[in-house]
Amino acid sequence: MTEAVALSSSDKASRYAELMPQLAALCEGEPDLVANLANISAALKTCLPIASWIGFYIRRSATELVLGPFQGNVACVRIAFGRGVCGTSAAERRTLIVPDVEQFPGHIACDAGSRSEIVIPIERAGQVVAVLDLDSYELAAFDEVDAQWLSQVAALAASLSW
Ligand code: SME
Repeated sequence: MTEAVALSSSDKASRYAELMPQLAALCEGEPDLVANLANISAALKTCLPIASWIGFYIRRSATELVLGPFQGNVACVRIAFGRGVCGTSAAERRTLIVPDVEQFPGHIACDAGSRSEIVIPIERAGQVVAVLDLDSYELAAFDEVDAQWLSQVAALAASLSW
């Protein structure tokens, strides 16, 4: 049984290092974006038990992100660019690590139990096409180690057929 415990930085890095080739293999030769994003979110969830929710919000218009494949509880469907952690990450084209969501003005609470969050933008040709969002019931669950590895996951996602 997996538990929502914090891993040491080196344990976490080892898990990500094992996961990356698995993610690449899962998506290899598969052109269907939904299938690939679904498998990436499932594999990440297994790898990161501290995360309560892992998934993608996809840019569907100039102003809006829409819920994509995810693992976890039901979530809000539409997020405006510039709103919440996801919309801010998309608008500012940067990774946001939020150790305490209550301290992030405008945080969108899809799950009242969420305590911390990380959002990584996925960019193709300089445009944000989606974000990868991870939530946790633990405070400060995500750090720079997660940001570095998850940016590789975002790069893999960006390399898929869109
Ligand atoms: N908390 C996010 C909304 C998405 S859910 O966490 C799944 C935000 O503030 O953008």
